[in-house]
Amino acid sequence: MAGGVGSRFWPLSKASYPKQFHDILGAGETLIQRTFGRLSQTVPSENVLVLTNEKYKGLVNEQLPEVRDENIVLEPAMRNTAPCILLAALKIYKANPDGVMIVAPSDHWIENEKAFLTDLNTAFEACAEDASEEKLLVTLGIEPTFPHTGYGYIQYNASTAAVKGVEAFKEKPDYETAKQFLAEGNYSWNAGIFIWSARAIIEAFEKYLPEMYALFNSGFEALNTEAEQQFILDNYAKAENISIDYGILEKSGHVGVIPATFDWSDLGAWGALYDNLEKDQDKNVIVNAQTVLREAQGNLIRSEKGKVVVVEGLKDYIVVDSDDVLVIIPKAKEQDVKIIRAEVEQHFGAD
Ligand code: GDD
Ligand code: MG
Repeated sequence: MAGGVGSRFWPLSKASYPKQFHDILGAGETLIQRTFGRLSQTVPSENVLVLTNEKYKGLVNEQLPEVRDENIVLEPAMRNTAPCILLAALKIYKANPDGVMIVAPSDHWIENEKAFLTDLNTAFEACAEDASEEKLLVTLGIEPTFPHTGYGYIQYNASTAAVKGVEAFKEKPDYETAKQFLAEGNYSWNAGIFIWSARAIIEAFEKYLPEMYALFNSGFEALNTEAEQQFILDNYAKAENISIDYGILEKSGHVGVIPATFDWSDLGAWGALYDNLEKDQDKNVIVNAQTVLREAQGNLIRSEKGKVVVVEGLKDYIVVDSDDVLVIIPKAKEQDVKIIRAEVEQHFGAD
């Protein structure tokens, strides 16, 4: 899934060039390239579908030349993750009714790829063995460390099985609820990476988002043929704008979670970048900038152009200088970047 805007990473991430197409951590590869590399260790690369907005086709072609055009699904409208996942599931089901799929965001950071692949195998096995009436939907769970309000929370049962049963899934709780979940102890964060059979997720859509199911299933004949793109153009925008988390996982009666054995960051906002990069002796993180720092601690300083940045008397701030925008904001306010971007758009036009 590579169709989001990554607006909390503005002004680096823009609607015209979202964060999954950037090398945010300076790793030598963009996030989507890294994701493709990780997944193609377990999925033949010709089986990888890239779902994205039509305006990012050029970026996908340029950054993932291995992916053929027929494996790139171009969405004419932004409708969040449920519609693109249903479309992918129907395509996979049509190609192989017993197919199992991994659904992965394109903008995450995973260091230990070996552990990631082991967890995926555990999930594949669980999906293959599953013979239940309402079929199993597996998610990977991350041990929560603070009451983050931007994640899904998975309440799991006490079983010692590799895939734990899920009692409840709550997407993006408010701060007080998240705090309570942490205190209770039997919750993990949803990594946003899912494993299920195409059949299982299609049945879940039929049950929990029946209108979307009917809309896309009406084009089943067209999928994987030359008529597919026209069907998508005519119908995609009619789908409800809803994420898979609210639309399916909160409602499903059969979710399982595998506690992840790999390190993970969703690189959701600037603070996540700060946390993942090396700090100087005053706990500053400097990316692409030459700096003169005086009484500066705990800051993230990034420049697009390798500019010289001089900072004095600043603590725990994010300073990001992009081509056209300079943002200086306390680290504690990183979640506001999304709102600020909208405000800037109102005054000065879209990015
Ligand atoms: N193709 C496509 N189309 N992709 C999309 C769209 C869309 O309209 N909208 C978002 N995506 C992609 C994003 O690019 C990202 O890779 C992924 O889908 C997830 O979307 P986000 O918008 O980043 O979701 P989130 O971070 O708010 O929440 C999800 O991830 C969290 C972990 O990072 C949820 O699954 C949470 O439960 C989870 O904790
Ligand atoms: Mg995200």
